[in-house]
Amino acid sequence: MDSLHSTDVIVIGSGISGLMTAICLHPRKVTLISKKKLGEASSSAWAQGGIAAAIGKDDNATIHFEDTIRASAGLSDEKIVKIITEEAAKIIKFLEEKGVNFDKDYTNNFLASQEAAHTRRRVLKVNGDSSGREIIKSLIENISKLENVTVLENITVDEIITEDNKVLGVIGRHLGQNVADNVTFFKAPNIVIATGGLGSMYEHTTNPRDIYGEGIAMAARAGAILCDMEFVQFHPTGMDVGLDPTPLLTEALRGDGAKLVDENDFEFMKKVHPNGDLAPRDIVSRELQRLKDLGHSTFLDCRYFTNEQMMNSFPSAYSFLKKANIDFTKEKIPVTPAAHYHMGGILVDSEGKTSIEGLWACGEVSSTGAHGANRLASNSLLEAFVFGKIIAKSINSKIIKVKDLPWINVQKYLPKEKTASRVRAKKYIWQLRSVMNDLVGVYRNEQKLKKAFVEIDRIEREAKHLSAKLKDMILVARFVTYAALLRKESRGAHFRSDYPNSNNNYLNRRKTTLKELNDFLSSKEYLEKVA
Ligand code: SIN
Repeated sequence: MDSLHSTDVIVIGSGISGLMTAICLHPRKVTLISKKKLGEASSSAWAQGGIAAAIGKDDNATIHFEDTIRASAGLSDEKIVKIITEEAAKIIKFLEEKGVNFDKDYTNNFLASQEAAHTRRRVLKVNGDSSGREIIKSLIENISKLENVTVLENITVDEIITEDNKVLGVIGRHLGQNVADNVTFFKAPNIVIATGGLGSMYEHTTNPRDIYGEGIAMAARAGAILCDMEFVQFHPTGMDVGLDPTPLLTEALRGDGAKLVDENDFEFMKKVHPNGDLAPRDIVSRELQRLKDLGHSTFLDCRYFTNEQMMNSFPSAYSFLKKANIDFTKEKIPVTPAAHYHMGGILVDSEGKTSIEGLWACGEVSSTGAHGANRLASNSLLEAFVFGKIIAKSINSKIIKVKDLPWINVQKYLPKEKTASRVRAKKYIWQLRSVMNDLVGVYRNEQKLKKAFVEIDRIEREAKHLSAKLKDMILVARFVTYAALLRKESRGAHFRSDYPNSNNNYLNRRKTTLKELNDFLSSKEYLEKVA
């Protein structure tokens, strides 16, 4: 590939947000950059839950709105929640027109599942718990027919290039080789970041290992404002059988009667919350973690499911269980909380715009305010579809073409140095993941968070020439730890054992920047008390 590639819009990421934005940008000239083969490197391809949409006879967008607000623990943006819940039915129609076959009963009504904190059965699925994979397949089929979209695979984006707070393009590195001349400057007046969340920063995650927050890191380095960085949602039922990443056992299993139990078959959630096993996800995860810390074992009991039922309704769970050699009709399945979704990210407005002109963010990498401190299950694919459509409409309403950008001395921006060997980086990446799990995980407190900073500093020092991936992970780890340290209360997915209650002084979404983080890291307070 040449050292310069020019286009009108660059979309980075090939999950649902990236694909949806690219489809809706038609007829604009788009380059879609994917780290792996299309469809292979996104969390949405692994989504089991589906899309929350109030289309049942007993449901409407207002009830969906109220459930979302309740789950978000006071921090969501009502305007955004209204937009996504009201758009849901239109998104389902759009997807059906694009060839997505939602699961329906014999009278052609949608088969909706029940997930935690929803007061109605409203999670629509495709082929049971294989929703993400099936939807991505249909979107890729659509993309392949679009002549305006160029797909480039096996390229990772390291930096966003800006001048005067406007984007000029990005630097992409061709994967597989680690040399300085193997990079391209992708020039474009509009960049859409759709790189997903940060699950892979943690030892236990339900996300693919390629999802480690690089979109957040590059946007922060370019000067973008971030928001809600402390809010990492842990899914309570990651399968704890030594597989990595941790396979997800969908909440819909509990919606269909699976039970959380301890080693004595005690249904522990019954005494913790009136909704028992279907209590909000943060509460379930905390109870599981608490029991584990006390030395108990935690399981999902699916023993009353038949093989046929599991295979037909939950084919992904069925294949994970087979892989782990677990006969769920006879044995309980060991489960653990695992990092699943990041509510924070790059701050965007109701059009998906970041604080940098020409830079947009869509899906989990963004912080729209739709999820507040705790995302309602299956609202994330909905948000990705709604914002993909909104961002494409905004970009298309103001035509700026690549030829309108100034001439650029490409060589000035291309990196000169080699990065560290990936093998050497791997050791430090795993050290960082265990720091995040143990010290910035389900239970946090000041002592743990300060220790996390010390450990992150040590890893950075010892790793010396950082690989691009480790550099991004260290930056994002610091952002999450810093935000968690500042929020001296417990709210939604953020729990501080030293401040176990919520506090109305913190009833705001917290914005931050790289400058603020760097000021903190070089402050007297940090150097004396933390480092
Ligand atoms: C699940 O199926 O339990 C996950 C759904 C989600 O996280 O939205």
